[in-house]
Formats: sequence, structure tokens, C-alpha cells
Amino acid sequence: MSRWVGPRATVLDPFCGSGTTLLEAKLSGRRSIGIDLNPLGAALARAKLQPVTLDEVNRRLTTLAEAFRGESELEDVPEKLQSIFHRRTLAQLFYLRNALSTESADDVFLRGALLGILHGKHRRNGSTAYLSVDMPNTFSMSPEYVRRFVERNALRQPPVDVFAKLRERITRLLRSEPLRNRPSADVVQGDATRMAEILSDLGIHSVGAIVTSPPYLGVLRYGAFNWIRLWLLGHDPSEVDALLQTSDSIERYLSFFLSFLGEAARVLRPGGVAVLVIGDVHEHGQELNLAERVWEEMTGLSPFELAGMHLDAYDQNTKTTRVWGDNRKGRATPRDRVLVLRRVSRERRSTNPR
Ligand SMILES: C[S@@+](CC[C@H](N)C(=O)[O-])C[C@H]1O[C@@H](n2cnc3c(N)ncnc32)[C@H](O)[C@@H]1O
Repeated sequence: MSRWVGPRATVLDPFCGSGTTLLEAKLSGRRSIGIDLNPLGAALARAKLQPVTLDEVNRRLTTLAEAFRGESELEDVPEKLQSIFHRRTLAQLFYLRNALSTESADDVFLRGALLGILHGKHRRNGSTAYLSVDMPNTFSMSPEYVRRFVERNALRQPPVDVFAKLRERITRLLRSEPLRNRPSADVVQGDATRMAEILSDLGIHSVGAIVTSPPYLGVLRYGAFNWIRLWLLGHDPSEVDALLQTSDSIERYLSFFLSFLGEAARVLRPGGVAVLVIGDVHEHGQELNLAERVWEEMTGLSPFELAGMHLDAYDQNTKTTRVWGDNRKGRATPRDRVLVLRRVSRERRSTNPR
């Protein structure tokens, strides 16, 4: 980040996902703001940025555990959850789902930690850090797929204690407390194409840098593939997917991108940079350099100059989309581009052909 972003710049990530950019900004001493339309992204990013202490979070967890009233906490349990969690675990999950507030820093942190241990892969020796049956993938497969997987492999829902697992997790997460006394970070659940208004509501009129990874062309269904985590947050996955709808059509994608860049031009101060990570995608049997296509489309329209375009190739086996196999990982490729744009001042714009 330091290569392009000034040491005191306020950093905006308008597609912040789980908040990695914001965390880096905070650790490097920069104020930051994150926006994400997905309630799961916003919940995870908020949790990641709380400057909480292990002592305080432990105390809050003890209070919560003492107020738990056992299986009477169970509400109507959807069948799809019964194949994943033990009944006792479910009672604790239902309880925490209602008891954790969205206001207190300790609760926001605990909710994020809970989302992190909700489901996952068991260790070879059969022990687990998670609350679910053995679930190998980061994303949640469909309820029907999970049901068949559990049945076929004769999996048993482990009778895990949520409070104990949560305590293990927070002890690990907070073994050092690197976020104490760092600049503040705000996370807003909202639409990146309205970021000027969102910033203005926070009393911020311009930022020094936008560092972000915008959604790719029709690659992921964030809602459906996070249905268990969204249940914990009380959101309907299909509503989340409808909100996040990105198009498979390149024209619609480019038009979305241009309206995003129009807003970016409004909030970025002259001289500020937008660092955008954009993946190449498959298009008509070929690999399309989407970042270059975006830059071509902007020519003559926007107050930006090109400050750099860098290739970032990675091992596709490390990408989360690998879980769908070759025919379902959509249009993702193993190549990202880092497109770096500089906001030119109005005076330079008039002499600049772009
Ligand atoms: C490629 S991911 C970013 C991942 C992020 N860098 C991280 O480390 O988790 C794109 C994000 O954009 C969000 N998103 C999609 N459309 C949006 C919109 N119109 N406004 C704000 N966020 C949006 C998605 O929810 C997703 O979290």
C-alpha cells in the first residue's frame, strides 16, 4: 500500500469484504472507511477492526454464558440446520444470535469470531475448532448438498460447547492487541455507487486513496454460498444475492464500473490514487484483461490518469472459487491486475486529452 498511498492518507475501500485493506490501513497508522453491500462483509470487517482487549471480551463472554438458559432458547429450527449442528450447539447459537448487540465493540467482535468458527474442517484426529459437522469448504455448499454429504459419510453432529470454542478462538485472536491506539476505522453497509453520500454522512468530504477489489464479472454468489453465516446474522441469502447482483454481461459490468468511478472522482482529492485489483475473466472462450478494458472505456470520460497496471498471477488452487471445480468456478482466472489511477486536478484535466 505504501508505494502509492501517502503515510497520512485516509483510505477508502468501497468494496471492503471482510476488511483486510482496512486492517492494513489501521496497522499502518491510516484512518480508513469501508463500504460493503453485503451484511456479512460489513459484520466481518467491523469485527476485525474493533480495538477490544482479551480481558473485556472474556468477561462479556462469561456474562453471556451465565445468562444462557439451555434448550429453552431453541426456536423453530430449520431442518437444514439440524444436519449441521448438534441440538445443544443450536440452542447456544439461537441464544447468541439474539443476545449479541450490534452496538457494543465486544459484541461486534464476538459475533465476528462466532462467524469464523461456525463451520469448517475437522482435524485428522477427529477434534475440531469449529461448531459444525466436518465441512471441508470455506463456502457453504447448498442445504441439499450438505444433507446428502452428511448422510453419505454418516457424519455425527459434534456436541460442542459454543462458549468454550468461542473462548479458544478469542484467546488466539487477541493474543496480542495490535489495534489499541490506532486511527479509527468506520464500516458502512451500503452501495459503493453512492459513496459520496455515505462519506458525507460520516462528515468526510474527500479521501487520499481508494484501495479496493471490486466484484468480478458474475463470478460469485456471495449470498447463497454463505447461507449458514447469513442465518446467524438474520439475513435471507437470496435477498443478499439480489442486492449484490453483478451482471454476466460485460456492457452492464462496464456501466456499473463507470458509475463507481464517477463517484470515486467525487470523493478522491486531486493527486489521490485509486488502486483497483481487477481479475481477468473468461469471455467467449478467451481470457479477457478486464482492467485494460475498464481503462479503455474510461478514456476521455474521467479525471484520472493511468499511474500503473501490474500483473498479479497466483496459484488457482489457493483461490476460494476452486471449490466448484473447472466447470463451476465461473469466469475467474488465475490472473489479477492492479490498476492504479491518479486523480488529476481540474486545471490539468482541461489540458489533458484524457
Ligand atoms: C472481490 S470482493 C472484495 C474482497 C475484499 N477485498 C476482501 O478482502 O474480503 C467484492 C466485494 O464487493 C461487495 N459488493 C458487490 N457489489 C457492491 C456494491 N454495489 N457496493 C458495495 N459493495 C459491493 C461484495 O459483497 C464483496 O464483498
